[in-house]
Amino acid sequence: MDATNTEIIAAASEARERAYAPYSDFKVGAAVEAESGTIYIGCNVESASYGLTVCAERVAIWKGISCGEKRFNRIAVVVDTEELTLPCGVCRQIIWEFCGDVPVILANLSGKTETIQMSDLLPRAFDSKFLK
Ligand code: THU
Repeated sequence: MDATNTEIIAAASEARERAYAPYSDFKVGAAVEAESGTIYIGCNVESASYGLTVCAERVAIWKGISCGEKRFNRIAVVVDTEELTLPCGVCRQIIWEFCGDVPVILANLSGKTETIQMSDLLPRAFDSKFLK
């Protein structure tokens, strides 16, 4: 049975609690639903060499891929900001490549949510079709 958006948001919120963000103190949680139905969670993991930091969205997708998943149906991103936080540019590219034009569910800890399609976040994306 497919998880509800509420369940995916709850999974992302739980992941957010494990964020390793001592430099920015900006904790992010993400959860992706694979085509198999399994949900993979991720949090941001920062580095003292700041540029090596990995965002929550990519951690969640890499976890799914490394467990044998190929594609994902939905992604949720949870932050503790009044204004809902959008995936960064790098994550938009990766979400597009591994998920395609999926709904991106944004949420904060106060229960505010909004769903945006990936094609609205990254119109006219570069992807593998250009490499053929
Ligand atoms: N961050 C994410 O995890 N996802 C995003 O889409 C935006 C930014 C993290 C990276 C860094 O650890 C912190 O938020 C501040 O940029």
